[in-house]
Amino acid sequence: MADILGIETSCDETAAAVVRSGERVLSNVVSSQIALHQPYGGVVPELASREHLRAIVPVVRQALKEAGQTYESINAIAVTQGPGLAGALLVGISYAKALAFALQKPLITVNHLEGHIHAVLLEERQKGNVQIDFPVLALVVSGGHTHLFLAGQQESGWRYQNIGRTRDDAAGEAYDKVAKLLGLGYPGGPVIDVLARHGDPEAVHFGLAQIKHRNRGVPVELQTAHDFSFSGIKTAVLRYVELNDMRESIAARRKALAEIAKPKPEDVLALTDKKTLGLIASFQRAVVDDLVAKTLDAAREREVRALFVTGGVAANSELRERFELEAAKEGLPVYFPSRNLSTDNAAMIAAAAHPKFAAREFATPEFSAEASLVLR
Ligand code: KG4
Ligand code: ZN
Repeated sequence: MADILGIETSCDETAAAVVRSGERVLSNVVSSQIALHQPYGGVVPELASREHLRAIVPVVRQALKEAGQTYESINAIAVTQGPGLAGALLVGISYAKALAFALQKPLITVNHLEGHIHAVLLEERQKGNVQIDFPVLALVVSGGHTHLFLAGQQESGWRYQNIGRTRDDAAGEAYDKVAKLLGLGYPGGPVIDVLARHGDPEAVHFGLAQIKHRNRGVPVELQTAHDFSFSGIKTAVLRYVELNDMRESIAARRKALAEIAKPKPEDVLALTDKKTLGLIASFQRAVVDDLVAKTLDAAREREVRALFVTGGVAANSELRERFELEAAKEGLPVYFPSRNLSTDNAAMIAAAAHPKFAAREFATPEFSAEASLVLR
């Protein structure tokens, strides 16, 4: 039995959690910076680092307390090394290093994307499901990433092969940029998720050209058949807004929302007309169609036995429904983390660290943040 304290500060959530042996969440504390970044419509790196500094100590204390643990009782400390914002990562890493040194506990580094994949495994183990068939194809889809990984367990630990990625924007980034453009607030995913249910997904047709990946300028050896591209659809939404004279109503919505302290999706819905709801529903349909189709293509080609869908965008209702439906047609089981563990958290970092703890794969003190850390 190993109780691992996980620490995650790669983007705009300061998170700490204690997970027992990669299969039981004893605590999972997330301090979100959404309100801080909301006025800017996106994460401001300097503000994120400063807020992590402020929050890290109380968040870790809270995680230990909720788990009924102390600094002395935990067996190891795990921290996200990358990918993410360098300054933000450094806060978690410096704190984890100091803690490990002071307590004389082993320190384990985790790739944030590996964390998202292990969020799925953690919850399945917690539910008692140890019967997952491999190889697994994992779609990690969030604000910073849209990646397809083949994942499997080998004697030397978990190994991953990246067989698809976004050429430009991540899917969550497209949600956030479209929400900003339409004056829906930040982050875009949760509000678009709710608003899309009230619009006609057939209202606007986004052609294949707007969402297919573009290999122009990309060296042949770096091209894969399973790549994504989400910047074209964002431009198509902008063009639609201009052609349909929607600027004024967007400005009015932005102004009205700025006067509400903590706007809920229902507040945004009340300020959104039918034409805009149609645009939102059509945008989401196009993104979901693309994510599901390309993932299933890759699953068929690689003959995988199960699908994982994880990361912030995996919280999306339409994405979950469509994956369940389409994967069932192929006889393929599909696993999602609960919504809490889909978005950034430290339980996934503590869970991903467990196999490394068992293999005694500990970090040496000289490692640092790696903003573009690759998962292998
Ligand atoms: O995994 P995450 O918390 O942070 C990153 O590693 O990026 O993902 C955050 C992203 C944001 O872009 C947010 O808009 C999106 O996930 N998101 C959603 C939903 N909830 C969060 N996108 C679509 N539907 C949702 N329900
Ligand atoms: Zn993430």
